[in-house]
Amino acid sequence: MSRRLTLVFLGTYAGLSSAEEILKAFRRLLQRTPVYGVYKAVGHYPDYWYWILRGRPARSPHLLKQKVVREYSEKFGLTTLVETGTYYGEMVAAMKRHFERIYSIEYAPELAERARHKFANDQHIRIFCGDSRVVMPDVLGLLRAPALFWLDAGYYGWVGMETDRQRLSAELEMILSHPYPHVVLLDDARCLSGENGIPTVGDVKSYIESSFPQRSVEVKHDVMRITKR
Ligand SMILES: C[S@@+](CC[C@H](N)C(=O)[O-])C[C@H]1O[C@@H](n2cnc3c(N)ncnc32)[C@H](O)[C@@H]1O
Repeated sequence: MSRRLTLVFLGTYAGLSSAEEILKAFRRLLQRTPVYGVYKAVGHYPDYWYWILRGRPARSPHLLKQKVVREYSEKFGLTTLVETGTYYGEMVAAMKRHFERIYSIEYAPELAERARHKFANDQHIRIFCGDSRVVMPDVLGLLRAPALFWLDAGYYGWVGMETDRQRLSAELEMILSHPYPHVVLLDDARCLSGENGIPTVGDVKSYIESSFPQRSVEVKHDVMRITKR
């Protein structure tokens, strides 16, 4: 029996209706186990090739995002990474050998706790728990040199969470007016849709370039890249 059929059979037995539902239930179950990180890390490879096969659609795979983070750290000689939105710590895990220091902020206490546990032996990694807009000043206060920021905290809606529409501009303002010329990568640029009060990519770009004339903004592969001119 194929894997899919086996899942359908088990799911029907458990009262679940479709293969998709069963796969979702399986993933939810896996998320509660420590092997979920390995499952996700391995899954990045087929994900990447599937993205290429589909003609590189707007939503880019995690492996490509990892490549972008590494590329910018090397290009600008940045050894500290600040991430908003830790989630299951996939970016932290992928970057832990590439940075001297990593600070990551996660809103959901159970995810932050899980990440603290996961990186308990990595002295150069610190996980903060809280709203990135509130925690950001503490993290900025720890920096003594320019850092690379990976902003990935579901700025325009994360399942089950109220969205603070000013959070992105508030964080950009704090980061870009900090005394060091930090480099900022904002994930999911395609979500800057211009709908329901959400700004467009053009709005964010003109806000940054007019308020911070020393910065330039470029978007490629769904990542907005804010660098020093
Ligand atoms: C797309 S996931 C992050 C993925 C992760 N950066 C990676 O590359 O593996 C978004 C995460 O942002 C978190 N989040 C949402 N709102 C937040 C907020 N206000 N402050 C901090 N984290 C937040 C969510 O709980 C979720 O874990």
